[in-house]
Amino acid sequence: MPEKGLFCGNNRPKDLTAMTDLEKKHLPVIDCPDSVRSGEPFEVRINVGSIPHVMEEGHFVQWIEVKFGESLYSRIELSPKVSKPAVVVTLVKQAKHPKGTLRVIERCNLHGAWEATKEITIQQA
Ligand SMILES: [Fe+2]
Repeated sequence: MPEKGLFCGNNRPKDLTAMTDLEKKHLPVIDCPDSVRSGEPFEVRINVGSIPHVMEEGHFVQWIEVKFGESLYSRIELSPKVSKPAVVVTLVKQAKHPKGTLRVIERCNLHGAWEATKEITIQQA
């Protein structure tokens, strides 16, 4: 049964130092460099949850989006049973600004969308 309160916007943990199991299962974990060079590819590794999230027919992670600000860089659709909510995407960031906010959003069919962010420095080439 979907929890209605979780389907209003993107969820974030209330306290990163004291996350509930629900928050730990859904908050994306971002692994990528703190600093990248403008125009050069870099990898972003994403795991949904610091503890594993199930991938069953009735409860699964439907998609993962990667954005800089409001710009969509990548969207990966997932299927239950045959995939895990972990992906690696290769991005290229052009430097219009010296810093950017990488946003990773995942959507669970029962628990809504969850967003994690990371500030990245973009060095001029
Ligand atoms: Fe879930």
